[in-house]
Amino acid sequence: MSSSGRFITFEGIDGAGKSSHIEPLAGWLRQRGHELVLTREPGGTELAESLRELVLHQPMDALTEALLVFAARRDHLVRQIEPALARGAVVLCDRYTDASFAYQGGGRGFDLAVLSTLEAWVQQGRQPDLTLWFDLPAATAAARRGAARAPDRFEAQDEAFFERVRAGYARRAAHDPQRFVRIDAGGERAAVWAQVLAALQSRAW
Ligand code: TYD
Repeated sequence: MSSSGRFITFEGIDGAGKSSHIEPLAGWLRQRGHELVLTREPGGTELAESLRELVLHQPMDALTEALLVFAARRDHLVRQIEPALARGAVVLCDRYTDASFAYQGGGRGFDLAVLSTLEAWVQQGRQPDLTLWFDLPAATAAARRGAARAPDRFEAQDEAFFERVRAGYARRAAHDPQRFVRIDAGGERAAVWAQVLAALQSRAW
């Protein structure tokens, strides 16, 4: 078992199917003796979950949105993620800062330099050890999302928005190829799961 913890994040556009692989991966890692912490952004602490409600449902401008997701991240990082990593846990986090670059930067067109400044202030160098990027075309993701529930402020966006988000993820992946593993999320669930396991096994985790 690792003594310094591992920080693994899950990314992708809404409807990519990432969330359904987090619990199975947690089970796989627990069997190998790791302590697991499953969490999400925005969210993961009481304060950050309150901010999530606002970000997902209240009208606001792009700067307010960016500040709130980073405020939520700060609280989550300091009070949940860092203590878990310090005691040697594996942290599986459904979205992290790449989502800010993809959604606020790519989707909304918000200033990437400001996002980089916020990233540096809030994280003080803490990056995931591994980021699993579930990638698929926006049209496929939209068909998967369907009309099952009332959409939040992001789910309500059009296909062009999600293609910009996807391009935002592609840029982040290109800048950090060691950290990112692109998962082809357009196929069958079993094929996607095989790629998730391969990413972990290739790092001997
Ligand atoms: P999501 O993770 O898709 O949760 P659920 O599966 O419950 O819908 O929802 C979170 C939304 O927040 C998602 O649409 C992306 C958005 N988001 C940002 O815009 N910026 C961020 O920094 C983060 C972490 C999420």
